[in-house]
Amino acid sequence: MITARSAADLRARVREWRTRENRIAFVPTMGNLHAGHMRLVRRARTTADRVVVSIFVNPMQFGRGEDFASYPRTLEADSAALMEADADLLFVPDVEVVYPRDLEQMTRVEVPALGTILCGASRPGHFAGVTTVVAKLFNLVQPDSAVFGEKDYQQLVIIRRMVEDLSIPISIEGIPTVREPDGLAMSSRNRYLEPRERSIAPGLYQALCEAGDRLGAGERDYGAVEQAARETLIRAGFEPDYVSIRRATDLEPPMSDDKVLRVLAAAWLGGARLIDNIEVTIS
Ligand code: PAF
Repeated sequence: MITARSAADLRARVREWRTRENRIAFVPTMGNLHAGHMRLVRRARTTADRVVVSIFVNPMQFGRGEDFASYPRTLEADSAALMEADADLLFVPDVEVVYPRDLEQMTRVEVPALGTILCGASRPGHFAGVTTVVAKLFNLVQPDSAVFGEKDYQQLVIIRRMVEDLSIPISIEGIPTVREPDGLAMSSRNRYLEPRERSIAPGLYQALCEAGDRLGAGERDYGAVEQAARETLIRAGFEPDYVSIRRATDLEPPMSDDKVLRVLAAAWLGGARLIDNIEVTIS
């Protein structure tokens, strides 16, 4: 596995692969890789000749007071895991490579509306930071496809929208969330949980599943289902940010003929803001 830090090193390698007509799959990450990330890498491995993974803790997607400084950085272990997973290139750009000028002066890519609901409502600017860095990384790597986890479902929908709106010739693949045996969605931020909080944390997935069961049983008062899930979370010890039932394709409130829904939630548990979602198909 090659490690590239500069755009020139990355591009030289990509150019060489292109002359051999190799297909390139890309997995952008912020590092601290866990089994969820490795599933994305394995998926990329099965769909392309070459797999590029990036590790970049993106300052633009963290708000003031968020965990940019303390976000876990574990490059050595990540690099070993990627080598083991047979990735071809690890791109670890310095901040100047991604942002050649002050963040405030940088050109931004923003998906309106979709970027300001749900997680975007409580993390203003977060999704503009995500779409800007992903657009930049797409331009640097120029892959044929890119793989994202469904755990950040809103992020996935926003990236699909960006690619469609800007005619970016990259196919986007979403991969189901990888969970711990007790149901907790894998996340780098789970390490912020104290032992007592860790034992409560699977309650987020349980609340989503209960909401899914109610929808599956025919309940169509979405507001009531959301409220019940919020109350379940509060009783379990969470501070819910939102629980919301949305149409899966575009995260709009569901219409009566929408059949494929997502139940999405974000909730604080101690110092960790956990997010999760499930798909529910109704008849
Ligand atoms: O999902 C993430 O880890 C990040 O939001 C991403 C897509 C790598 C952009 O920084």
